[in-house]
Formats: sequence, C-alpha cells, structure tokens
Amino acid sequence: MTMDELDDTLAELRKPTSREAYLRAFGALLHSGDTAAVCEALDDYQHEEALTRFGGSNPLEPFADLLERLSASWPVEDAHASTRRARTGMTGGRQLSRHDGISDKRTSHSSSASSRPGCRSSLETSPTRRGACRAAGRACANFGVPGRHNGRKGGGTMLNTWLTSRFDLDLPLVGAPMAGVSDGRLAGAVSAAGGLGMFGVPPAASASWIEEQSAVAAASGRPYGVGLMAWAVPDNPAQLDAVIAARPNLVSISFGSYAEYLEPLRQAGITVTTQVGTTDEARAAEQAGVDVIVARGAEGGGHGRNDVATLPLLQSVLDAVSIPVLAAGGIATARGLAAVLAAGAQGAWVGTAFLGCVETTVSEPAKERILAAGEDDTAYGRVFDVAQRLAWPVEYGGRALRNAFFDRWAGREQELAADEDARAEMEAARRAGDFDTAYVYAGQAVGMVSRGRTAADVVADFAAAENLLRR
Ligand SMILES: Cc1cc2nc3c(=O)[nH]c(=O)nc-3n(C[C@H](O)[C@H](O)[C@H](O)COP(=O)(O)O)c2cc1C
Repeated sequence: MTMDELDDTLAELRKPTSREAYLRAFGALLHSGDTAAVCEALDDYQHEEALTRFGGSNPLEPFADLLERLSASWPVEDAHASTRRARTGMTGGRQLSRHDGISDKRTSHSSSASSRPGCRSSLETSPTRRGACRAAGRACANFGVPGRHNGRKGGGTMLNTWLTSRFDLDLPLVGAPMAGVSDGRLAGAVSAAGGLGMFGVPPAASASWIEEQSAVAAASGRPYGVGLMAWAVPDNPAQLDAVIAARPNLVSISFGSYAEYLEPLRQAGITVTTQVGTTDEARAAEQAGVDVIVARGAEGGGHGRNDVATLPLLQSVLDAVSIPVLAAGGIATARGLAAVLAAGAQGAWVGTAFLGCVETTVSEPAKERILAAGEDDTAYGRVFDVAQRLAWPVEYGGRALRNAFFDRWAGREQELAADEDARAEMEAARRAGDFDTAYVYAGQAVGMVSRGRTAADVVADFAAAENLLRR
C-alpha cells in the first residue's frame, strides 16, 4: 500500500462514508500486513460512529481470523507501542528493528496522523474496541491491565515502551530479582520510584515468606514482580502456589525447566518472563509461551550463563524472536539503558546497580566490599554453589566478587564437592560475614557502584536516558 493509499484508508476509517467502504478499508489495511497501521486504525477509527450510522454488529468481526493470524506472527502489542512512539516522535531518526513495527517513513506519517490518546485508553472505554481486540487474541497486551491511566507522569516520550505501557511505569526499568538481596522492601522502593521492582525467591524460601514479601512490595501501591528459580520449584512447589496467590504483576521463572509453570501463572493474569543466556534459549522461551524475554548477558551479577555478553546476545535475540525483549547484564546507568533501548529492547533488567542501596538486605561488611570493588573484581563459576551443596544446574554458574576462597577452589569443583571441611568453612564464614570466604554476588557493573544510595536515587538517574536518546 502506498502512503497515499494508506492516508485514504485511514481517512475512511476515521470518517466512514459507508459500511462497505469502511469494511473494505479495514480489510485492505489488514491485508497490507502493516501492524503499525492496523494499530493506528484500531486506535483511530470510529467503531461507534460506524455502528450508529450503518447499523450491524461489531464491524471487525469479519476480520477476526485475519487479526488473529496477524497478531500471532507479529504481535500488535508491539505495534501499539510503536504507534505511541511514533505519535510522540520517539522513533525519529533511529534505526528501527522489525519489532518496532514501523518504518521511518511511516513514523512521520503517523506523527501527523493523530494526537489522540493511546489505543489502550480507548480500549478501556470502548466495549466495541474491547471486542475487536479480543478478536485479535494476544493483540492488545494492554487490555485489562490494572492501574493504567492513573495520572502518573511518564519519564519522557523517548522512554515509552511496551514495558512502561504494560505496567504503567515512569521508566522502562526492572529492578531485577536478587535472592538474598532484594526482598519486598527493595522491590517496593523501586516500584514506588517509577520502575518495576522485583524480589528474588531463595531456593529454600517458604510460602509464608513469599506471602510476607509480596505484601511489603505491594504496599507501594505500584506493580511489582517476583523471581523464582525454576530448578528449585519441584522440591518446593508451595513457592509457585504462594506466588500465584500473591498475584504479582510480573513473574520471572528462570534457570531450569519452567514451561509447565507458565500456564498456571498466566491463568492468574500474571505476565511471565524468563532469563535467557543464548539465542536458542530465547527461541525456546518464545515457543514455551512467555510474554517477554530477558536477554541476560554474561557480565550480569548472580546466576546465569557465561556464554554470550549482553550486547551480542541482545542483538541476536531481538532478531530471533517476535515478542518483547528486555536487556540484562552490565546495565547500571542511563547510558546503558539508552543503549539497549536504541538497539530495540523494551527496557532494562538491572540488578547490580541496586546493590549499594539502603533498601537491600546486604550486610554492612558486604556492602563495603561492593562499594570498593572495581569492574574487574568479579569472577564467574560454580565454586560458591558447590561449597554450599546447592543443586544449581551446571550451566548456570554465578558471577560474584572474586575472593580468596574462589581462587583457592576454582577448577577443583569436584574435589570441593567432597570436602566437608570446606563446606563447613563456607557455612561459618557466611554466618560471620567473612567475605574472604563467603560470597557476594555482583556483576561487572559493580565498578560503577561506589556509594550507598536510595533505590529512588538510582532509578531517577536512569531517566537521563531520555536526553541521551535525543542526541
Ligand atoms: C545478588 C544477586 C542475586 C540474584 N538473584 C537472582 C534470583 O534470585 N533470581 C533471578 O532470576 N536472578 C537473580 N539474579 C540475576 C538478576 O536477576 C539479573 O539477571 C542480573 O542482576 C542482571 O545483571 P546486572 O547484575 O549486571 O544488572 C541475581 C543477581 C544478583 C547480582
């Protein structure tokens, strides 16, 4: 469809001249396969007016199958975000990936096409449109998400993405789950500051602990999330039940077989994600049915793969999947956030940058180590897991501050697994806060964490990504 034809089509949809012309226009748009324009039309066209003037049932009904197919191959939810960005000029001049769903040429068209509120607000107020979007299956990811359009200010138009829209955030930023570091307090503080805070569930955590921390995180009144370790759930299925009962807005379930847990979570209305460390894992995650993928590079703190760094992984995953992608690993400042947004990620998933925060559960001696550590003071491996006899799958080692215990045992993990004295030494060091032996998990971004701060300050600094993207 040429730009002129598109203009005519959208004009017809906005001001229908006859039912037939109106249906013809919408059909032409759908057949063009241009999801951004379809979204524009869903946003702009006058369902009610068409119905009133020409009578009949939901005018989109004849297109239900087509909409469904279109949304399956290229989720319109991305196009919603694209359309919104286009209106605000966010895309101007940037190189867009296919997930942006819109070309630069179309950007200028769309910018002038409408200054109306976004599709989502229309969906919420229009039963007809709701029907239309249901017909499109997953197309309207924003539909029915609570807490939207509550008057919160956005962090800036360049920072509006699928993530901010889905969870009504000020910034496209997730405070990553960090077991043993982020409990409900840190999660709530990140959420209150305009990001999406998550708490991490340790492998042996009880259902009641999850219930308590969920209540603390939810007290911010803002969306929050919970991170489960997939390998730990079979031995502790009450964790999954407790998470479902708490109904957080986002759940990540990573590191192990997670596919069977996705449906119960989604049934509870929870958005689900998993952290992937290779492009193949990303493809498998999309296939399994997650809503969004976290592409987590090897420089990240805590557990994950050590195979691919964040930037090559992100580029490859963005090209390999059609669902929203968040970037993780080494993102600690506005520069990192701007970089991954420019690449096409819908947001950043940030852990290490929060390690110095007053709202963490990190002890003072551990925090001193974090604040003093430089960018090359981390090491990746399984030493600390083996010493604790934790059943982490071998492909998911951990990145932590290098210390004397790590250096002594790295490369001798089998020996360590059988050494009871070393296990006891680790246990005693953990209790005593001796971090020459005990672990402090952190990523390479730890070099940028040099003073104790509040989570709100850390989140606020990320907003400078807006200006970086405008350059
Ligand atoms: C101390 C610490 C604990 C972590 N615990 C978890 C966890 O419980 N569950 C999880 O899915 N990821 C966990 N992670 C990984 C983070 O979710 C995230 O992938 C990582 O922090 C991103 O990289 P960055 O640290 O460079 O920001 C942890 C990371 C850290 C630093």
